[in-house]
Amino acid sequence: MARLIDRVGSVDGGLLRADFPVLDRPREGPRLVYLDSASSSQKPRAVLETMDAYYESSYANVHRGLYSIAEESDRLFAEARTKVGRFIGAPVPGREVVFTKNATESLNLVAQAWGRHHLREGDAILLTEMEHHSNLVPWFILAEQLGLELRYLSVDDHGQLALDDLERLADGVKLIGVTLMSNVLGTINPLGPIVEAARANGAIVVGDGSQYVPHVPTDVTALGCDFLAFTGHKMLGPTGIGVLWGREELLDATPPFLGGGSMIRDVRLDGYEPNELPWKFEAGTPPIAEAIGLGAAVDYLQALGMDAVRGHEIDLTAYALDTLTRRHGDAIVIHGPREPCRQGGLLSITYKDVHPHDLSQVLDQAGVCVRAGHHCAKPLMRRLGVSGTARASLYVYNDESDVDALAEALTQAEALFF
Ligand code: ALA
Repeated sequence: MARLIDRVGSVDGGLLRADFPVLDRPREGPRLVYLDSASSSQKPRAVLETMDAYYESSYANVHRGLYSIAEESDRLFAEARTKVGRFIGAPVPGREVVFTKNATESLNLVAQAWGRHHLREGDAILLTEMEHHSNLVPWFILAEQLGLELRYLSVDDHGQLALDDLERLADGVKLIGVTLMSNVLGTINPLGPIVEAARANGAIVVGDGSQYVPHVPTDVTALGCDFLAFTGHKMLGPTGIGVLWGREELLDATPPFLGGGSMIRDVRLDGYEPNELPWKFEAGTPPIAEAIGLGAAVDYLQALGMDAVRGHEIDLTAYALDTLTRRHGDAIVIHGPREPCRQGGLLSITYKDVHPHDLSQVLDQAGVCVRAGHHCAKPLMRRLGVSGTARASLYVYNDESDVDALAEALTQAEALFF
């Protein structure tokens, strides 16, 4: 376990940085100010060391060997699944947590396995205008295959879903797909009314938790959704590991997604019998070390306490909104709710008419890393009337000095461009 997370109940981003080797890498010029965690988070030493130790001391394939290190691998892999399941309050972690490659694959799994089996021509599904492409394109593909009707909840001028239209738009739908937190605006969407509208129509709710799960205490039962997709690399874990949580009875009633080894109980030349949950959905050798690394990331976040993680982000978002508007006034537009308690630590910025790519490159000269572009949310960019934004995103290892560095780098950009 990392050295610096012994102060349960509070997060000190400046202190935590020492746990993240890349943030301390030797470099010429200013220190690295990493503000791109919504794209991918950095990894603490605890995760890196756990994965190294696994490869160095116990590595073998899972589900196959009857020798000791294979059995050890099986145990570590199963423990990782339990940790991840408990982290999101899964009632039956050992059956309801499916490991995938990333959140995108998790959402494609729901579309192609659940959707293809349960939806019919003419059925309607409801999505939102603020979805990431990962929660749009899989449904477009399915809509083309089956002849589905797609409907959208729009985004209002405050970056919130226009829920006044929910009852009308949800009428007769079979599925509602919604992000729990916008990867552009940071908006935290209230799942309660959405779940209620879905239930009234006998529809299921598919949540995209990619931005939410790493930052907000999550309990799938309290949320009320039926499927929840998220990814390891945005929550201090490695790349190559995603998660699909689904209610047990729904996963049971869903046919396999990918076919191959491990996902079968029996194979004959005239057919196959699928395996039990969750292996039915895990064809081929899974991302074993990555799952174990994700388990270590969960340990790290739990040692901090997810309430403390969220509290830290609310405070830091408030500081960032205040600092950036105070220092940059009318020059800057920060898209989204601008209400720290109703949003995550995401600040999508338009700075006068500077192209976000140019802005990002100038910020980089000050050591400040932000993501520039459409953030895989082109329909939302159209709604905002911009081609892209420069997005700063906060996490546990950030503190006020990082926000100050961003504000100062924007001042330098202004001097350069105007
Ligand atoms: N989905 C990631 C982002 O928003 C890559 O940056």
